[in-house]
Amino acid sequence: MFYRKECATIAQLTSLSSVDRRWGKVTMFPHDAVAIAHPNIAFIKYWGNRDHNLRIPTNGSISMNLEGLYTRTQVAFDAALVADELVLNGLPQSGPALQRVLTVLECVRSLAHTENHARVESENNFPTGVGIASSASAFAALSLAASAAVGLQLSERELSRLARLGSGSACRSVPGGFVEWQAGEGDEDSYAGSIAPPDYWELTDCIAVVSAEHKPTGSSQGHRLAESSPLQVARLAGTPQRLILCRQAILERDFDTLAIVTELDCHLMHAVMMTSRPALIYWAPATLSVMATVQTWRKGGLEVCYTIDAGPNVHILCPNHVSTRVVELIEQVPGVVQVLTAQPGGPARLVV
Ligand code: DP6
Repeated sequence: MFYRKECATIAQLTSLSSVDRRWGKVTMFPHDAVAIAHPNIAFIKYWGNRDHNLRIPTNGSISMNLEGLYTRTQVAFDAALVADELVLNGLPQSGPALQRVLTVLECVRSLAHTENHARVESENNFPTGVGIASSASAFAALSLAASAAVGLQLSERELSRLARLGSGSACRSVPGGFVEWQAGEGDEDSYAGSIAPPDYWELTDCIAVVSAEHKPTGSSQGHRLAESSPLQVARLAGTPQRLILCRQAILERDFDTLAIVTELDCHLMHAVMMTSRPALIYWAPATLSVMATVQTWRKGGLEVCYTIDAGPNVHILCPNHVSTRVVELIEQVPGVVQVLTAQPGGPARLVV
């Protein structure tokens, strides 16, 4: 049986080998399972890998899961299938999308000592590929559904590591609420955990959608370009300090500090993107309009700040009590086609 390098690596690790031993006692497995997971928005960004295959990041990151937006994934292992199948939002997939799913399925098969193929059906309730991290919720839901379908009971940490192999930011969609991904040194210690539960801080992410088109350069390709920017070294040098500030801001529910550190970190990541070779420019004209407008509102006393992932849409964070007003204001900015809202979301979970 063929195993990719990273699957062999993860299966050899002590903590996951303990699953192997547990598995040895199981005689039947349920064959299919359904899981949901939320996307997340990073306040301190992940950009660049030390190991691209294992997705070991160059820096730690902090995010908030987004309740209301989700990926729902069903995985069914079936001895009658001759190959793995992937259906995404109703459309059968092949090529790179299927290959990426195989990374997780092969690890799960290796851990569970099964050779059965799987049918994966996944749906998002939000637009794909527009800077709302669909790969995060997709791989968190896939890891949980696939491991449950073969009867594996992985810990949150093990699931986070498994999800990370499919998409780095997916490791942050496994735990609930406000989440930190410890960069770690290697596969075993690179995983995410909760800093605070979803109800700890009543924040809203108002997502100003300015384009629903697919982004030209995906994050995986972008991570590979990060070190070609002369600014990446400077960004990384300050990341430990920004992680401390962001963690404290969350724990103290300090919006002003969160606003300053989140916008700074966003600008640093986009400065790296723009100075990579080739340059990556994800912003559209309306992205800049929203950024400038949010800055004006904050100067006027409104508690708002923004952050932007690898896409043109702007995530505007604010306390819940001003979110209705903020949405009304964003809708008036020229170029904004839709505003989605999300509050802090829970962990990846099985649907029974
Ligand atoms: C800009 O997790 O999408 O959203 O590991 O290649 O799937 P892959 O990359 P991905 O990168 C996310 C980049 C980001 C910042 C962040 O979410 O931290």
